Amino acid sequence: MSLNTVRHDYKVTKSDREKLHGHRSLLMWFTGLSGSGKSTLANLVEEALHEKRISTFSLDGDNIRQGINKDLSFAPEDRTENIRRIAEISNLMVDAGVVTLAAFVSPYIKDRDNIKHIVGEENFVEIYINTSLEECERRDVKGLYKKARAGEIKNMTGISAPYEAPLHPDLEIVTDHQSIETSVQVIVDFIIQKLK
Ligand code: ADX
Repeated sequence: MSLNTVRHDYKVTKSDREKLHGHRSLLMWFTGLSGSGKSTLANLVEEALHEKRISTFSLDGDNIRQGINKDLSFAPEDRTENIRRIAEISNLMVDAGVVTLAAFVSPYIKDRDNIKHIVGEENFVEIYINTSLEECERRDVKGLYKKARAGEIKNMTGISAPYEAPLHPDLEIVTDHQSIETSVQVIVDFIIQKLK
């Protein structure tokens, strides 16, 4: 759709806002299966960054899908639109000078590539929370895998819908092999370097 709109240039720039915050801004994108630990890790990482006086904001699949994206299903085209809208919101947050943490299954490579185009590759950090399907299914915190196996949920990622793992993530956390504390530390150390 083409609208007769013109972009405004604001007097206060992203760079001005970054100076005010005392650090640069970027988007930390957590991708992985449902139940892989994305939100848990993103929350703990945010807490650790906040303690270091870094301005942060979190966006999460379960919350966003109850609000701005409540009209969207888990069909492939709706997941694409889900991720596109979140990328646009993230872009505004990054422009506001805030370190943004987004935790979404985001199962399609093309959708994650599109985030890079929206926020700019230099602002995008892809963090792959690699937890095996067996482990996610064993945990089944929300009971979704059980329902999916029983055919009560359609398009369940990992069961009846694909998950395309990142080929070259900026960071990969194999949660089956390390503690939550270690994973948080690895992510925080990685990001702190990027924020300098
Ligand atoms: S995404 O694929 O469009 O990125 P998103 O991260 O927003 O998904 O939402 C995933 C969350 O919705 C999961 O953590 C889970 O709690 C819930 N959910 C409900 N149905 C499904 C499904 N069919 N596939 C994946 N997650 C689902």
